[in-house]
Amino acid sequence: MTLSKRIVLGVATVFALAVVSLAIMLSHDSPCPAPPTTTTGSQFKMKAVMQRCYGSPDILSFEDIDRPTPANDEVLVRVRAAAVNPLDWHSVAGWPYVMRLSGGLGAPNDPSVGVDFAGIVEAVGKDVTRFKPGDEVFGGRSGAFAEYVTVREARAIASKPANLTFEQAAAIPIAAVTALQALRDQGHVRAGQKVLINGASGGVGTYAVQIAKSFGADVTGVCSTKNVELVRSLGADHVVDYKKEDFTSASERYDVIIDNVGNRSPLDLRRALTPGGIVVIVGAPKEGPWVGMFWGVIRGLALSWFVDEKFVFFVAQLNPDDLSFLADLARDGKLTSVIDRSFALDETSKAIEYLAGWHARGKVVVHVPARSADGT
Ligand SMILES: NC(=O)c1ccc[n+]([C@@H]2O[C@H](COP(=O)([O-])OP(=O)(O)OC[C@H]3O[C@@H](n4cnc5c(N)ncnc54)[C@H](OP(=O)(O)O)[C@@H]3O)[C@@H](O)[C@H]2O)c1
Repeated sequence: MTLSKRIVLGVATVFALAVVSLAIMLSHDSPCPAPPTTTTGSQFKMKAVMQRCYGSPDILSFEDIDRPTPANDEVLVRVRAAAVNPLDWHSVAGWPYVMRLSGGLGAPNDPSVGVDFAGIVEAVGKDVTRFKPGDEVFGGRSGAFAEYVTVREARAIASKPANLTFEQAAAIPIAAVTALQALRDQGHVRAGQKVLINGASGGVGTYAVQIAKSFGADVTGVCSTKNVELVRSLGADHVVDYKKEDFTSASERYDVIIDNVGNRSPLDLRRALTPGGIVVIVGAPKEGPWVGMFWGVIRGLALSWFVDEKFVFFVAQLNPDDLSFLADLARDGKLTSVIDRSFALDETSKAIEYLAGWHARGKVVVHVPARSADGT
C-alpha cells in the first residue's frame, strides 16, 4: 500500500472511531440514581418534579427540595398551574440525542422539569420594579413543574390577563409564542392571505388559528374528524378533515402553511402553495433518536434552494414582549386556551405521557395546590 493510501486509511479510521465514540457517548443512558438526601438547609421546602436520568416519563420523581430564593433581579412565583409541551417529553427522553450535547451526557445536567407556568408573585429581589408580591403572572422558566419558580424580571414573565384562569394562562407561553413567531416572523402573514395550519387542534395549532385570524388572514385548519367543530369554533374559515381529504392534492393554494405535524413531504406541501409561498416547519414526527426527526427539515431546506417557494425552520424564543402581546390578545377576547386535560402536580409523568400520544385537543396542563406563605 502506498504512503498516501495509508494516510487516507488512517484518517478515515480515526474519523470513524470518533463518530462511533460520539454516538456511544450521546446514546448512553446512566442508571437513575436515588434523589440526593443532602440539601442546602433552607428552612423552606417545596414539592417539585425532578428528572435524575433519561427515559420514559415514569422515571420522573416527585421530591421535597429547597425552595429557591430570588436574586436581586428575580421574582419568586408560587406556581398555580404549569403546562406540558412536546419539549418536556423530549427533555425527559433526551431525544433527539443531539440535545444531550447541551443538556447533559448520560443524565441531565439540570434535574428540574417543565417550562410554562402561571402563578402569583410571592417575593421579589430588591432591584425588581415591574412586579410586586400578589401580582398574577405567567411565563416560561425551567423547573416549572414545582410549587415555586424564580424568574429574572427581564426574562419570560408577564402579567396574567384577569379573564384567564391560571391553567389557561399557563397553557400560553411555548405553544402560543411558537404560533405567533411562526406566523408573524417566519411566515410574514398579512391580512387577506390564505394560511393553512396543519395540526390545527393541538397546542400550537389552536393558538395559530386564533392568531392568524387576528392578523386578518383567511384560515384553513387541518385536523381529524373529532376536532373539526373545535377548530371551526376557534375562528377557522375552512376546516380540512385529514381522515377524509388530503389538502396537498386538492385545488386550493395557500400563501403560508404552518406545519405542526411534519407528516407530508416537502414536494407534497409545495403543491399546496401559491407561487412564492412559504412553509414554516414547526413540528416533526418522533422518528427515532438520531436524525430522523430532522429529515423533513433537511429535505425542505434543500428544496428551497431550487424553487421559488420557501421552507423555513425555526426554534421559538420566549420573551416578555411576545408574552405581553399574547396577554393583550387574550384580554381583548381574541385568544383563549383550549384545555384538554388537567393533571395534579404529582401526576406530571402521566400528563407528559398523555401528550406524547400526539392527539391532545389543545393543551394539557398540571395544577398545583395552593400552599400558605410559610410553605406549610
Ligand atoms: N419549532 C419550535 O420552536 C417548536 C415549538 C413548540 C412545538 N414544536 C413542535 O411542534 C409540534 C406540535 O406541537 P404541539 O404542542 O401543538 O403538539 P400537540 O399538542 O401534541 O399536537 C397534537 C395535535 O397534532 C395533531 N395531529 C396528529 N396527527 C395529525 C395529522 N396526521 N394531521 C394533522 N394533525 C395531526 C392532533 O390532531 P388530531 O387529534 O385531530 O389528529 C393533535 O391535536 C411538535 O412536534 C412540537 O415538538 C416546535
